[in-house]
Amino acid sequence: MATPPPIPFDNAFADIQAATRRHRAQHGCGAYTFEDGPALIRLARTRLPKRVLELGTALGYTACCLAHGSPLVQVDTIEGDPEHVTLARAQIARYNLSSRVTVHHGQFDAVLSRLSPGYDLAFFDGFAPPLDIILRMRHLLNDDGVLVCSNLQLAGGSDAQLLAAELANPKHWQRLDPIEGGRTAVLAKRPSSV
Ligand SMILES: C[S@@+](CC[C@H](N)C(=O)[O-])C[C@H]1O[C@@H](n2cnc3c(N)ncnc32)[C@H](O)[C@@H]1O
Repeated sequence: MATPPPIPFDNAFADIQAATRRHRAQHGCGAYTFEDGPALIRLARTRLPKRVLELGTALGYTACCLAHGSPLVQVDTIEGDPEHVTLARAQIARYNLSSRVTVHHGQFDAVLSRLSPGYDLAFFDGFAPPLDIILRMRHLLNDDGVLVCSNLQLAGGSDAQLLAAELANPKHWQRLDPIEGGRTAVLAKRPSSV
């Protein structure tokens, strides 16, 4: 087996991020890579989740960041584009993380229905977050589990207003400091919400 590349401390997996940018330029797809992997690593290091759910794998950059931050974590990450799934599995294997990161191929709603609750951290990094998907992620989170939600600025229409109301509901969520320069919300699930 090939020796995995060394993981630099500050911007771990920057090579996967760069590969994702190159892939998007050639593929013309929606694989916009997350801009603040170090913040995800810090979040995982602080909270030490044992189970992480990710929606939107692309080439595996953020899944690897989350796995790197929490040594015992199992990451379930969902991706609908078959080419992204193949490329992500190869990147994850290159870093010897295949035993801790599972790439599920399918649409978010279909794969979510096969997963069982008990996640400590859930990261939405698809395109605009749909309300029904965020509600299902809340259901899959443990009490005090953390929801990280990117791309809120892409949500539009009445769904966006309902989503904003949901995330602002103090009975469901406690707002924590955002990441990615304020573009990505971080919220803790209130224990009493289901
Ligand atoms: C913004 S990219 C994810 C970037 C990745 N987290 C990273 O930082 O490199 C969004 C990904 O979600 C996938 N995607 C978007 N909507 C989806 C859906 N409804 N079901 C499954 N995959 C979806 C896209 O194919 C794309 O690869």
